[in-house]
Amino acid sequence: MPLSPLRLGVNIDHVATVRNARGSAYPDPLRAAKIAEAAGADGITAHLREDRRHISDADIDALIEGLTVPLNFEMAATPEMQAIALRHKPHAVCIVPEKREERTTEGGLDVARDENRLAHFIAPLAEAGCRVSIFIAADEAQIRSAHRIGAQVIELHTGAYCDFHAEGQFAARDAELARLGAMATLARDLGLEVHAGHGLTYDTVQPIAAFPELRELNIGHFLIGEAIFLGLDPAIREMRRLMDVARAPQA
Ligand code: PXP
Repeated sequence: MPLSPLRLGVNIDHVATVRNARGSAYPDPLRAAKIAEAAGADGITAHLREDRRHISDADIDALIEGLTVPLNFEMAATPEMQAIALRHKPHAVCIVPEKREERTTEGGLDVARDENRLAHFIAPLAEAGCRVSIFIAADEAQIRSAHRIGAQVIELHTGAYCDFHAEGQFAARDAELARLGAMATLARDLGLEVHAGHGLTYDTVQPIAAFPELRELNIGHFLIGEAIFLGLDPAIREMRRLMDVARAPQA
């Protein structure tokens, strides 16, 4: 039986990183988002960090105005970000942990430690019509907490799996993959929609894309890097192709 379609959300943060490195007006994240749409992205993901190191408030305004595919707005669980999300009401919000000194989102959100606050934090977002996703490690306690606080979606953090692959630690990689698969099943059985992302490349995407429970992958840094060599459109089309092959029924 064919698996349910797997959406590709293209994260365009690092188009803004390149722009901001020179304080110029280019490259424009909205232009990248339009190319991603044309190349088969089902959605665009952008993370407005508290320090605005890549995506800016003006980028979010432009994306809301200019996109024809859904925007997945990544944000920390702060009052400032909640107010911005409530003003724009994007299709989805993904709540991520954020530390100023980190280079990227290093781990999942510790929902289990902060259930009460997060339940109150996400309620108005869900009431405003946003699909609320929580970015978490593949951990049973975190998944059960995300379910308890009323999240509709969880996004499983694939960073550890990708790091083990890059470091040639294949036994650890395979153990992490097995954990991701088991936790995707648990989350789906609880009624959560399951997404995944972080660090995915052409080499690592397929075993993840093959999980039947998954409905969406969010991929950014590798694609923007690959675009330097291939162009953004072909880089995204190749990722889409690999995902589709991984999901096709085995002959
Ligand atoms: N999903 C979430 C929740 C993220 O925070 C990020 C990185 O911003 C991604 C997916 C995409 O990760 P990458 O840029 O490594 O592909």
